[in-house]
Amino acid sequence: MLLDEPLIFERGSPGRMGWMLPAAPASIELPRELRREDDLVGMPEVSELEVVRHFVRLSQWNYSAATTLYPLGSCTMKYNPVVHEALVRLPGFSALHPLVPDELAQGALDLLAQLEEALRAVSGLDAVCLQPAAGAHGELLGMLLVRAYHRDRSDARRRRVLIPSSAHGTNAATSTLAGYEVREVPVDQRGLLSARAVAAVMDDSVAALMVTNPNTLGLFEEEIEAVAALVHERGGLVYMDGANQNAILGVARAGDMGVDIVHFNLHKTFSTPHGGGGPGAGPVAVRAALGAYLPIPRLVRRGAQLAWSEDAPKSIGRLHAFDGNFGVLVRAVAYILRLGGPGLTEATRHAVLNANYVRARLRGTYHLPYETPSLHECVFSDRDLQEHGVHTVDVAKRLLDYGFYAPTIYFPLVVKGALMIEPTETETKETLDAFVDALLRIAEEARTQPTLVREAPHRTRLARLDETRAARRPVLRWRPPPRETAEIS
Ligand SMILES: Cc1ncc(COP(=O)(O)O)c(C=O)c1O
Repeated sequence: MLLDEPLIFERGSPGRMGWMLPAAPASIELPRELRREDDLVGMPEVSELEVVRHFVRLSQWNYSAATTLYPLGSCTMKYNPVVHEALVRLPGFSALHPLVPDELAQGALDLLAQLEEALRAVSGLDAVCLQPAAGAHGELLGMLLVRAYHRDRSDARRRRVLIPSSAHGTNAATSTLAGYEVREVPVDQRGLLSARAVAAVMDDSVAALMVTNPNTLGLFEEEIEAVAALVHERGGLVYMDGANQNAILGVARAGDMGVDIVHFNLHKTFSTPHGGGGPGAGPVAVRAALGAYLPIPRLVRRGAQLAWSEDAPKSIGRLHAFDGNFGVLVRAVAYILRLGGPGLTEATRHAVLNANYVRARLRGTYHLPYETPSLHECVFSDRDLQEHGVHTVDVAKRLLDYGFYAPTIYFPLVVKGALMIEPTETETKETLDAFVDALLRIAEEARTQPTLVREAPHRTRLARLDETRAARRPVLRWRPPPRETAEIS
């Protein structure tokens, strides 16, 4: 099998075509301003079969949850059920223009109302906004709501946000973007945020505590209620980064923990495509006291009809065009309706069981920095491999030789050399065993043949890349080689 694939532009030969069309009955005079002045160079000149083979080959090189286990912790590469794709392509959803009058879009509005209702129910909070396009966008909305709340009360003292050291990186970034100073609160030896640590830094300058729960170590914040009470006592708000709610859905609710604002990552919790700061969805749920500041337009009932309303004088304004990423929201509703309440709780239990199975099998071979019982993901470190000169990155690269994508590495930052695994609820025991067996073999190799691990991968098209250079100076544009340009022109 050919293991290298040139770009489509580098294939073919001059004059070769991939299409057959009858000659046009009459030539069309294009307006002058639309006519090309220069020669068209560098277009692929390939046959249809070359095109098909090129793209099929490339698609086979893709690694995804549709090919095998994708154990990225925190990013949660969940399987997206195929039925979602069929549903979202129904013409009533896919062909609905966003400017259609409300009375002609009642079905779509009803779907959004159902999603709002479901998110209120599972969060235990009072109002929901579906507009944010990603988890981080939801966080930004949350912090803008915090700002609007304090401004409305003329409380100008609040300039800080408390963030535990186990928080997701986006938490500090969004607080800063919203104009706040970030103060880090260290987690204790259990990997948890303690009420004592919060009490030591809580004062009237604090606008909010922003806590990822379950945190990035996959641990539930056991003192969250006491912590929330402390923050409220001094006039602050509690924001929960609820991206990890796939670990508690149907079991625990943010509202019951004393949280005022929470965001969901629909891709992590409801099996929709990943947002990655882009075209996903990160809805936000809030307590009634914050409802007035939510973005417009708001979905309201007028008699038997649903309608968008802009009548919200204290709103922070608009966050996203139209209704957010509607297609993603349709997929989330499909997931919720298909599983139902008990099914969602069952999915949570499986996610936790799978992660704990992996944790139990690897414990003893890989160093587990925190012994606190974990939920949907588990975090190891490379401490015990270092004496052989093997590090987390080497384990990740060697996993590629065994046919597995690497887990998240070097995150969370509270663990040096972290190896963070999140198998998700849909994996079978056989797949988990194959993955764990590969990791156990790699640990053995690290002891007996460390060079093999240090120089991995050995079976991929490319081995180790200069990742920093690839990120900082990416080459994203193909240019025709000079000789070819000369020949054509
Ligand atoms: C805990 C946590 N918070 C926030 C985010 C950011 O979400 P997004 O990538 O959708 O912006 C993620 C990423 O999945 C996450 O794991």
